[in-house]
Amino acid sequence: MSAIIDKVLQSESELEAFAGELASLASAGLVIYLRGTLGAGKTTFARGFLRGLGYSGVVKSPTYTLVEPYSFSASLTCYHFDLYRLVDPEELEFTGVRDYFNDTSICLIEWPEKASGYLADADIECELEYHQQGRKMKLSSCSAKGERLLLQLQAD
Ligand SMILES: Nc1ncnc2c1ncn2[C@@H]1O[C@H](COP(=O)(O)OP(=O)(O)O)[C@@H](O)[C@H]1O
Ligand SMILES: [Mg+2]
Repeated sequence: MSAIIDKVLQSESELEAFAGELASLASAGLVIYLRGTLGAGKTTFARGFLRGLGYSGVVKSPTYTLVEPYSFSASLTCYHFDLYRLVDPEELEFTGVRDYFNDTSICLIEWPEKASGYLADADIECELEYHQQGRKMKLSSCSAKGERLLLQLQAD
Protein backbone atom coordinates (compact mmCIF):
# COMPACT_ATOMS: atom_id res chain seq x y z
CA MET A 1 0.00 0.00 0.00
CA SER A 2 2.10 2.85 -1.24
CA ALA A 3 1.68 5.80 -3.59
CA ILE A 4 4.71 7.35 -5.20
CA ILE A 5 5.13 10.67 -6.97
CA ASP A 6 8.34 11.40 -8.91
CA LYS A 7 8.86 14.91 -10.09
CA VAL A 8 11.53 17.26 -11.37
CA LEU A 9 11.36 20.81 -10.04
CA GLN A 10 13.37 23.18 -12.20
CA SER A 11 13.52 26.04 -9.73
CA GLU A 12 13.11 26.99 -6.10
CA SER A 13 9.74 28.58 -6.83
CA GLU A 14 8.50 25.43 -8.62
CA LEU A 15 9.45 23.33 -5.61
CA GLU A 16 7.76 25.78 -3.23
CA ALA A 17 4.62 25.80 -5.34
CA PHE A 18 4.41 22.01 -5.46
CA ALA A 19 4.88 21.71 -1.68
CA GLY A 20 2.18 24.36 -1.31
CA GLU A 21 -0.24 22.27 -3.36
CA LEU A 22 0.38 19.33 -1.09
CA ALA A 23 -0.20 21.56 1.95
CA SER A 24 -3.51 22.80 0.60
CA LEU A 25 -4.77 19.18 0.57
CA ALA A 26 -3.26 18.24 3.94
CA SER A 27 -4.98 18.12 7.29
CA ALA A 28 -3.77 17.93 10.88
CA GLY A 29 -2.33 14.68 12.19
CA LEU A 30 0.35 14.35 9.52
CA VAL A 31 4.09 13.64 9.63
CA ILE A 32 6.39 14.28 6.66
CA TYR A 33 10.07 13.28 6.68
CA LEU A 34 12.32 15.40 4.45
CA ARG A 35 15.44 13.60 3.25
CA GLY A 36 18.39 14.73 1.13
CA THR A 37 21.87 16.18 1.43
CA LEU A 38 22.67 19.77 2.39
CA GLY A 39 21.18 22.13 -0.16
CA ALA A 40 18.86 19.52 -1.68
CA GLY A 41 15.78 21.65 -0.99
CA LYS A 42 14.31 20.40 2.30
CA THR A 43 13.85 23.86 3.80
CA THR A 44 12.52 25.12 0.47
CA PHE A 45 9.90 22.37 0.60
CA ALA A 46 8.99 23.30 4.19
CA ARG A 47 8.73 27.00 3.23
CA GLY A 48 6.42 26.21 0.31
CA PHE A 49 4.33 23.93 2.50
CA LEU A 50 3.93 26.63 5.17
CA ARG A 51 3.00 29.17 2.48
CA GLY A 52 0.42 26.71 1.21
CA LEU A 53 -1.07 26.61 4.70
CA GLY A 54 -1.31 30.41 4.58
CA TYR A 55 1.85 31.56 6.34
CA SER A 56 3.41 34.61 4.68
CA GLY A 57 6.35 35.43 6.95
CA VAL A 58 9.97 34.35 6.80
CA VAL A 59 10.74 30.62 7.04
CA LYS A 60 14.28 29.76 8.04
CA SER A 61 15.60 26.42 9.14
CA PRO A 62 15.54 26.10 12.94
CA THR A 63 19.09 24.80 12.89
CA TYR A 64 19.94 25.81 16.46
CA THR A 65 16.52 25.58 18.10
CA LEU A 66 15.74 22.22 16.40
CA VAL A 67 12.06 23.02 15.98
CA GLU A 68 9.95 26.05 15.04
CA PRO A 69 6.19 26.08 15.62
CA TYR A 70 3.78 27.87 13.27
CA SER A 71 0.33 28.22 14.76
CA PHE A 72 -2.60 28.55 12.36
CA SER A 73 -5.58 27.85 14.62
CA ALA A 74 -6.55 25.98 17.76
CA SER A 75 -6.74 22.85 15.64
CA LEU A 76 -3.61 23.29 13.52
CA THR A 77 0.01 23.94 14.40
CA CYS A 78 2.77 23.08 11.95
CA TYR A 79 6.14 22.13 13.49
CA HIS A 80 9.21 22.49 11.30
CA PHE A 81 12.16 20.43 12.58
CA ASP A 82 15.77 20.65 11.47
CA LEU A 83 17.73 17.95 13.28
CA TYR A 84 21.01 18.41 11.41
CA ARG A 85 22.89 19.54 14.50
CA LEU A 86 21.31 17.07 16.87
CA VAL A 87 24.08 15.06 18.50
CA ASP A 88 22.19 13.07 21.08
CA PRO A 89 18.54 12.28 20.33
CA GLU A 90 17.91 12.24 24.10
CA GLU A 91 18.10 16.03 23.77
CA LEU A 92 14.85 15.88 21.88
CA GLU A 93 13.09 14.17 24.74
CA PHE A 94 13.78 17.24 26.89
CA THR A 95 12.06 19.49 24.37
CA GLY A 96 8.92 17.40 24.89
CA VAL A 97 9.07 16.21 21.30
CA ARG A 98 6.43 13.54 21.77
CA ASP A 99 3.82 16.21 22.49
CA TYR A 100 4.37 17.63 19.00
CA PHE A 101 2.96 14.55 17.33
CA ASN A 102 -0.80 14.78 17.77
CA ASP A 103 -4.03 15.20 15.85
CA THR A 104 -3.75 18.99 15.72
CA SER A 105 -0.23 19.06 14.32
CA ILE A 106 1.57 18.69 11.04
CA CYS A 107 5.26 17.87 11.50
CA LEU A 108 7.83 18.54 8.77
CA ILE A 109 11.14 16.96 9.74
CA GLU A 110 14.52 17.64 8.11
CA TRP A 111 17.19 15.03 8.95
CA PRO A 112 14.83 12.52 10.63
CA GLU A 113 17.64 9.93 10.51
CA LYS A 114 19.38 11.88 13.30
CA ALA A 115 16.62 10.90 15.71
CA SER A 116 15.32 7.58 14.52
CA GLY A 117 13.39 5.88 17.28
CA TYR A 118 12.47 9.21 18.86
CA LEU A 119 10.02 10.46 16.25
CA ALA A 120 6.55 9.44 15.18
CA ASP A 121 6.47 7.36 12.00
CA ALA A 122 6.11 9.29 8.75
CA ASP A 123 2.93 9.35 6.68
CA ILE A 124 4.93 10.64 3.73
CA GLU A 125 8.63 10.61 2.94
CA CYS A 126 10.01 13.28 0.64
CA GLU A 127 13.45 12.59 -0.85
CA LEU A 128 15.20 15.42 -2.65
CA GLU A 129 18.32 15.35 -4.79
CA TYR A 130 20.25 17.58 -7.15
CA HIS A 131 19.21 17.16 -10.78
CA GLN A 132 20.90 19.31 -13.45
CA GLN A 133 20.08 22.94 -12.48
CA GLY A 134 17.04 21.89 -10.45
CA ARG A 135 15.97 19.15 -8.07
CA LYS A 136 14.41 15.73 -8.31
CA MET A 137 11.81 14.81 -5.72
CA LYS A 138 10.29 11.50 -4.75
CA LEU A 139 7.26 11.46 -2.48
CA SER A 140 6.32 8.07 -1.02
CA SER A 141 3.45 7.26 1.27
CA CYS A 142 4.07 5.19 4.40
CA SER A 143 0.53 5.09 5.81
CA ALA A 144 -3.05 4.93 4.55
CA LYS A 145 -3.42 8.62 5.32
CA GLY A 146 -0.28 9.47 3.35
CA GLU A 147 -1.45 7.34 0.46
CA ARG A 148 -4.84 9.09 0.29
CA LEU A 149 -3.12 12.45 0.27
CA LEU A 150 -0.70 11.56 -2.53
CA LEU A 151 -3.48 10.05 -4.64
CA GLN A 152 -5.48 13.24 -4.19
CA LEU A 153 -2.46 15.32 -5.20
CA GLN A 154 -1.96 13.21 -8.34
CA ALA A 155 -5.65 13.57 -9.25
CA ASP A 156 -5.58 17.38 -8.93
N1 LIG B 1 14.05 23.11 -7.39
C1 LIG B 1 15.16 23.86 -7.21
N2 LIG B 1 15.94 24.17 -8.25
C2 LIG B 1 17.06 24.88 -8.07
N3 LIG B 1 17.50 25.36 -6.88
C3 LIG B 1 16.77 25.09 -5.80
C4 LIG B 1 15.57 24.32 -5.91
N4 LIG B 1 15.07 24.19 -4.68
C5 LIG B 1 15.91 24.82 -3.84
N5 LIG B 1 16.93 25.38 -4.51
C6 LIG B 1 18.06 26.14 -3.92
O1 LIG B 1 18.85 25.27 -3.14
C7 LIG B 1 19.39 25.96 -2.02
C8 LIG B 1 19.31 25.16 -0.75
O2 LIG B 1 17.98 24.84 -0.45
P1 LIG B 1 17.49 24.42 1.00
O3 LIG B 1 16.03 24.25 0.87
O4 LIG B 1 17.98 25.37 2.02
O5 LIG B 1 18.21 22.99 1.20
P2 LIG B 1 18.28 22.03 2.46
O6 LIG B 1 17.28 22.48 3.48
O7 LIG B 1 17.96 20.67 1.92
O8 LIG B 1 19.69 22.10 2.97
C9 LIG B 1 18.66 27.30 -1.96
O9 LIG B 1 19.58 28.28 -2.31
C10 LIG B 1 17.57 27.21 -2.97
O10 LIG B 1 17.42 28.42 -3.68
MG1 LIG C 1 17.49 22.90 5.59
